[in-house]
Amino acid sequence: MNIERILIADVLANVEVGAEVTIGGWTRTVRASKGGFSFISLNDGSCMDCIQIVADKALANYESEISHLTTGCSLLIDGVVVESPGKGQRVEMHAKEVRVIGLADAETYPMQAKRHTFEFLRTQAHLRTRTNTFGAVARVRSAMAGLIHDYFQSRGFLYVHTPLITASDCEGAGELFRVTTMDPDAPPRDDAGAIDYSQDFFSRPTYLTVSGQLEAETYACSLGNVYTFGPTFRAENSNTPRHLAEFWMIEPEMAFCDLQTDADLAEDFLKNIFAGILNKCPSDMEFFNKRIDKTVIDTLTHIAESPFERITYTKAIEILEKADCQWQFPPAWGIDLQTEHERYLTEETFKKPVIITDYPSSIKPFYMRLSDDGKTVAAMDVLVPKIGEIIGGAQREERLDVLTERMAAQSMDAEDYWWYTDLRKYGTVPHAGFGLGFERTIQFATGMANIRDVIPYPRTPRSADF
Ligand code: 4AD
Ligand code: MG
Repeated sequence: MNIERILIADVLANVEVGAEVTIGGWTRTVRASKGGFSFISLNDGSCMDCIQIVADKALANYESEISHLTTGCSLLIDGVVVESPGKGQRVEMHAKEVRVIGLADAETYPMQAKRHTFEFLRTQAHLRTRTNTFGAVARVRSAMAGLIHDYFQSRGFLYVHTPLITASDCEGAGELFRVTTMDPDAPPRDDAGAIDYSQDFFSRPTYLTVSGQLEAETYACSLGNVYTFGPTFRAENSNTPRHLAEFWMIEPEMAFCDLQTDADLAEDFLKNIFAGILNKCPSDMEFFNKRIDKTVIDTLTHIAESPFERITYTKAIEILEKADCQWQFPPAWGIDLQTEHERYLTEETFKKPVIITDYPSSIKPFYMRLSDDGKTVAAMDVLVPKIGEIIGGAQREERLDVLTERMAAQSMDAEDYWWYTDLRKYGTVPHAGFGLGFERTIQFATGMANIRDVIPYPRTPRSADF
């Protein structure tokens, strides 16, 4: 079969009336009229809209095939583009030939043309992209990935592919998925009876990475400005609308850079990609604004236009302590900010994104640069309304002695990280970077409430279907 089809997005937007084209897609609805016509509404995923096709009973397979079509069938249609008499669309098509490629049993097809709950659609993740919402999420996600690459590529950042299998725990939180080929029922043991990892595939314990940062730092410390964009994994048992066990992260890392410049980049970057998505996906964004969250376009527009708030952690705690709220976790200097605190600051206090800097060293990883006060580090988190933390970043500790002290304080063996400390021995430079959670970015841009609905196949505690 030689298939030269054009996309429905193209037909609806560009193709001239009178042109003859071939399209392919899946039926959303099929309606037979009394006058001996069928109206087929076809979607191919290239845009939100379906194209309407009029199929005449004079077509050879009208009785045998076309009149029996139901939702979810795949078709290839040759036809003529004609002006649409209906409102809302420029053109429709008159079919010259309707080739039925695959039928969809109406009794069992799960994606019937009616409203489904997102919970139900998660159980049908292999078909849910045939709905308006999940088609739009997929297009926005793809466009957003493109915008992110464009942002860094056009500013001279080098794209680095950091490893997914690693022996280090960047965040030090112990939320690691182990990677092994050993038999869990009979792992090799040493003389003392302990598991003998020297006999494992990599001759040492290994894990799926929680962050590409440490390796990205090595590239930044020779190539200048770099970024990663890849999957990361966290075995944290958080069943929330904002946590995944497998998520994608964008991590820029810059040499000769301090916390201030790092925060400036984070703000400029977010503004750029949120303005960009409004531009690049106007009809999908209109859909989200109408159906999912009526404030989403205003919010993104506002963010692109006004400066983020910047406050220190100490100031944030002061604000929270004065707030008249029933906290689940009462705020006090030294605690990590919880989602309820982050949302209060962004939604109640400032009503916009907030960059919080200078967190207590005791709640942050070893690599963050210790400040002169001896108790805070040059950390920053970017918080946005509804989501809370979307970015976490820091200026890195570039002083060898301070770094090794902090590693020891967190019971890390500096020997294991010899290559990381080498960067501080040989031509060390101030450097900084951050990590943006890709799914939280898509959540924020679309207004989708649950992170499970913005990644194709979500991995969460007790759930790795598909
Ligand atoms: O704050 P995090 O843990 O920072 C790091 O991993 C640093 N190494 C990044 C860096 O400086 N290069 O994670 C960064 C971001 C968070 O702000 C959040 O948006 C996202 O990653 N994130 C998650 N997204 C979904 N599910 C999870 N379980 C996430 N954990 C973090
Ligand atoms: Mg964080």
